[in-house]
Amino acid sequence: MTAKKHVAVLMGGWSAEREVSLVSGAAVCKAIEELGHRLTAIDVQRDTIGILQALTMQAGGKPDVVFNALHGRGGEDGCIQGLLEFIGIPYTHSGVMASAAAMDKPLTKRIVGTYGVRCAEGAVVTRDDIVKNGYPLPPPFVIKPTNEGSSVGVKVIQKGDNLDIVEEDSWIYGECVLIEKYIPGHELTVALLGNKGQARALAVTELRPHQGFYDYTAKYTDGKTDHLLPAPVPADVYDASLRMAETAYTALNCQGAARIDIRWDDSLPGTKGLYFLELNTQPGLTPLSLVPEQAAYLHMSFSELIAWMLEHPTCPA
Ligand SMILES: Nc1ncnc2c1ncn2[C@@H]1O[C@H](COP(=O)(O)OP(=O)(O)O)[C@@H](O)[C@H]1O
Ligand SMILES: [Mg+2]
Repeated sequence: MTAKKHVAVLMGGWSAEREVSLVSGAAVCKAIEELGHRLTAIDVQRDTIGILQALTMQAGGKPDVVFNALHGRGGEDGCIQGLLEFIGIPYTHSGVMASAAAMDKPLTKRIVGTYGVRCAEGAVVTRDDIVKNGYPLPPPFVIKPTNEGSSVGVKVIQKGDNLDIVEEDSWIYGECVLIEKYIPGHELTVALLGNKGQARALAVTELRPHQGFYDYTAKYTDGKTDHLLPAPVPADVYDASLRMAETAYTALNCQGAARIDIRWDDSLPGTKGLYFLELNTQPGLTPLSLVPEQAAYLHMSFSELIAWMLEHPTCPA
């Protein structure tokens, strides 16, 4: 029996992934109640004083631990982590630095690249650069925001596609975008649970969307994507994916649960077609999510996963 705690769940937020976070948060709240902890659920608004009041003025005072169920900007990028450091409450998942670095895809690639992790070739450009000089790579390529998640704003441009997206009114990306070489082949993902720099990759799932690429609809609509677990890939590719995930996790100094996304081009020999795309420090915890699915594959139930995360928080210095 573990001691009962007062747990505050932060959910919602104001990022493009608010709806996903509300679904993750609801699943987490249910598990926390089942575990017998005292629960305070907080729908986070862009209101620092409101967040501080909700965290410190509930009956019974400060929570023992915060479960961060936020996704995207504000909740996944070091900001909310900084606030929790400031007021001294332990919180699930990664700390300020890992969260901030992992939210920025180009920075993440620079960091993990120095640890020998193979990343897709790419460049960060502005709309003006593209208007003046054209795209930095020939199609096929992928255009994506540097700091969103859930495939928000990601567009795959194939040879022969219309390149008019730089036209002013269809440009939705803000100042800078990442243009990345399109990696054909397979979509893989690896969940991790780690503590104090020790990472344990759980398994490799292959995702096969029924249509198009693994976009927002394919991610969050039941039945739109097949999850193949364990991924039906050769043993060396499976093992190299786990090692790639652990190397990236350690390089960024993550904590608790995380997930990395990989593309595998099976036309290249051995493990040479594995390319790291990104590391998510606040991976989804919805009923369709990949981390709980891999945990279940290893006989860890959803509530055991949540209990483990509460036992391995980031502790403010
Ligand atoms: N370089 C790439 N080659 C092929 N597909 C890509 C590439 N980059 C992204 N994608 C597709 O877009 C999806 C979302 O991209 P990702 O980098 O994981 O960002 P996020 O999930 O944060 O939106 C991927 O899961 C993949 O299906
Ligand atoms: Mg992704």
